Amino acid sequence: MDRFKFYSPTYFVFGKDEENNTAKYVQRFGGSKVLIHYGGGSAIRSGLIDRVKASLENASIPYVLLGGVKPNPRSGLVYEGIELCRKENIDFVLAVGGGSTIDSAKAIAAGAVYDGDFWDYYQGKPVKEALPIGTILTIAAAGSEGSGDSVITKEEGMLKRSASGDALRPAFSILNPALTQTLPLYQTACGITDIMAHLFERYFTNTKEVEVTDRLIEGLLLSMIHEAKRVIKDPENYEVRANIMWAGMISHNNSCGVGREQDWASHDIEHELSAMYDCAHGAGLAVVFPAWMTYVMEHDVNRFAQLAVRVWGCQMDFANPANTAKEGIQCLKDFLRSIGMPSNFAELGAKEEDIAQMAKTACWGNGGTGTVGRFVPLKEEDVANIYRLML
Ligand code: NZQ
Ligand code: ZN
Repeated sequence: MDRFKFYSPTYFVFGKDEENNTAKYVQRFGGSKVLIHYGGGSAIRSGLIDRVKASLENASIPYVLLGGVKPNPRSGLVYEGIELCRKENIDFVLAVGGGSTIDSAKAIAAGAVYDGDFWDYYQGKPVKEALPIGTILTIAAAGSEGSGDSVITKEEGMLKRSASGDALRPAFSILNPALTQTLPLYQTACGITDIMAHLFERYFTNTKEVEVTDRLIEGLLLSMIHEAKRVIKDPENYEVRANIMWAGMISHNNSCGVGREQDWASHDIEHELSAMYDCAHGAGLAVVFPAWMTYVMEHDVNRFAQLAVRVWGCQMDFANPANTAKEGIQCLKDFLRSIGMPSNFAELGAKEEDIAQMAKTACWGNGGTGTVGRFVPLKEEDVANIYRLML
């Protein structure tokens, strides 16, 4: 296991109706004037925003509203939010929604206290300072409620890039699984795919002797496979929603990634797809992951075979572990298909003629180093080959 430092300071509040206590947590973390940031309308329609407003009003905490975050959030609204925070002397940013809303809120929180252009953070500058952030999560997926990351798309050039830093970790996150019961099945499945992807990105490592995190990841993958089938049959089941929601947090706050090298090529490859075609991040990952696995499998066939045996229940072919590894990849494809995820470029609306451009931007765009991924560092040509496997 490698050396590591792990800082996960978020105060998690899990359970039904906890959004009604929002004011208590805002006060606990020093907020006296709040920006309530939300998405395209689901939080309004469900009455959630009204409940959050009521909680703040009852505690005499003033707030300003800024809605309209789109999936794959854009820089334009971030600039607007930064201006608003400065004009209104906001000292706390509250995200009510999914990963897109939380990421936009994080960008605003960092940009509001930074003299330069907030986009600097999305070109590699670590985020060391930000207004405190609270989240009320409405979809289990991105894990932004516990992560120190934010992903924003710059309209100019449609560049989708990440920023990182402990200052981006939320001060508190309210996780009420009942809020996810209104999700369409497609979004639920995209979320499950993203959660599993965050586990795969960590599982495929060159670090040896990481049994504890291997087993944590395998356990979470098994739970997701189990709960995915149940949530499709019974979308209103609170307990199923609760398990998926906590898995989303645990899979990405880095509990499962400490002490090991992580890959992240598939996320870089996917971000080009959601930037260019505005597809859901989870749907993009459903197409990317099996292709990436097929392309890099030979690098460590035994690790792929181990996953196939422990998670998908395949029989180990000791004479030829590559057969087991391939069977595991096929199980993943079948599973993703069974939950309604796309499996190729056409189903994402992606086009073959854009492959060269996406491969170039993935490897070189905006501070890129020429390769993506660490398990197997992939050059532009490799990334293009992986896109071709998705046709
Ligand atoms: O905008 P509204 O109307 O709220 O609708 C959203 C949106 O259309 C809808 N939705 C959310 N909660 C709902 C609901 N609809 C009904 N009922 C509810 N309870 O779902 C749609 C998707 O929302 P979004 O926030 O985009 O989903 P997600 O959480 O998957 O976030 C995706 C974004 O997160 C980034 C992705 O790249 C993508 O931009 N990621 C962020 C990460 C991080 N910050 O750590 C890591 C991830 O790997 C990921 O890259
Ligand atoms: Zn993701």
